[in-house]
Amino acid sequence: MFAIVNVWYLTSLICIGICVKLYWKLSTRWNGSYSCLVGKTAVVTGANSGKPNYQITINLSMSIFRWIIYLLMTHLYILEILHFINIIWFFHTGLGYNTALDFAKRGARVILACRSKERAEAACSKIIKETGNKNVSYKLIDLTSLQSVRNFAEEFNKTEDRLDILVNNAALGVFEKDYTDDGIQFLLHVNHISPFLLTHLLIGKLKQSAPSRIVTVASLAGALSPMNLDNINKVPKILLFTELRDAMVYGTTKLYNILFTNELARRLDGTGVTVNALHPGCVSTELFRGFKGIIQFITQLLAYSLFMTSEEGAQTQIYLGVSKDVENISGGLFTNCRQIGVYSTAKDPQLAKKLWQISEELAHINPNEKINFPINK
Ligand SMILES: NC(=O)c1ccc[n+]([C@@H]2O[C@H](COP(=O)([O-])OP(=O)(O)OC[C@H]3O[C@@H](n4cnc5c(N)ncnc54)[C@H](OP(=O)(O)O)[C@@H]3O)[C@@H](O)[C@H]2O)c1
Repeated sequence: MFAIVNVWYLTSLICIGICVKLYWKLSTRWNGSYSCLVGKTAVVTGANSGKPNYQITINLSMSIFRWIIYLLMTHLYILEILHFINIIWFFHTGLGYNTALDFAKRGARVILACRSKERAEAACSKIIKETGNKNVSYKLIDLTSLQSVRNFAEEFNKTEDRLDILVNNAALGVFEKDYTDDGIQFLLHVNHISPFLLTHLLIGKLKQSAPSRIVTVASLAGALSPMNLDNINKVPKILLFTELRDAMVYGTTKLYNILFTNELARRLDGTGVTVNALHPGCVSTELFRGFKGIIQFITQLLAYSLFMTSEEGAQTQIYLGVSKDVENISGGLFTNCRQIGVYSTAKDPQLAKKLWQISEELAHINPNEKINFPINK
């Protein structure tokens, strides 16, 4: 009797898993754009998820180990084998990497803005090898440091003539510590304050190169997250477990990305610089790599078995960076290469204005660096 129930249970689980996976596969829209980017320059933050080769071996052996564990524990091994094959054939990478790869294929000069020299170098050489485009390089940036963002921007503005596409992609889903050395709540700093500062410091080049685009990778996770701007720089208390707190704070910072995009679009009206935000979908990446124990096991199992690949997930940010369909749209939220309605908290202009003021203070924006409303508006 127990064996029959168990077989039914496992068969249903596998069927549900396969249906979800098929749904992602069949409903994913591709960017469908043939735009050429020769002569254009793009910056993609957090594009270094191309893993150095030695990690394939580690992944491979870990996958064999995980496969055995799953085989024994969950019987979801069919999906794990599929993912295992996926890792070997398609080289598992993040959204930023796939975006940079696509821009390089279109002939752009691409600058990967990364914090790890080793991973950035590996990603650069892989992109150059795959696309034949030698105009791919990296500059180091650490989004946990305001000074590092300033150094990056200063060097960029000194050495580069133009900037056509800025993709604010880098983010973290887990606290590495509570506060950064600048005294800013960790996830708030990496996911919102640093992209906010970077955009301010590069806006001159974007305006000079207009028509140009800013693409901010947000998330619909923000729809469920609590929001209290009065306590914005506080690390919330842990309720049940750390991972839940981290996921909630992560969601809130992604809501800030959307509010920032809306307000920035209003301020850039008429300048030829458009700005849009997006939700890439549920994608199997390393975003929550800091999770531990059983939570890590469950999130990885779900992500590896059910979620989209990074190449599929990167389509909307590529679409916003290159497609002619969106050249006149600014302040929009997109997913699956389509514009969608913004949820209520994310479209509140008063909230966006208040967040902007607080962010200017936290990012130490100088008066001459401020992005003001266009005159006469
Ligand atoms: N995956 C999803 O399902 C999902 C869903 C909704 C939204 N998103 C958004 O998609 C974007 C890309 O994430 P992903 O899923 O591709 O995850 P990922 O593979 O972990 O990529 C995140 C990138 O950000 C970089 N980064 C983290 N902290 C940094 C710092 N202090 N300075 C500089 N770079 C830093 C990481 O560099 P290191 O490798 O050096 O850590 C990595 O390259 C994020 O904005 C995320 O919020 C993802």
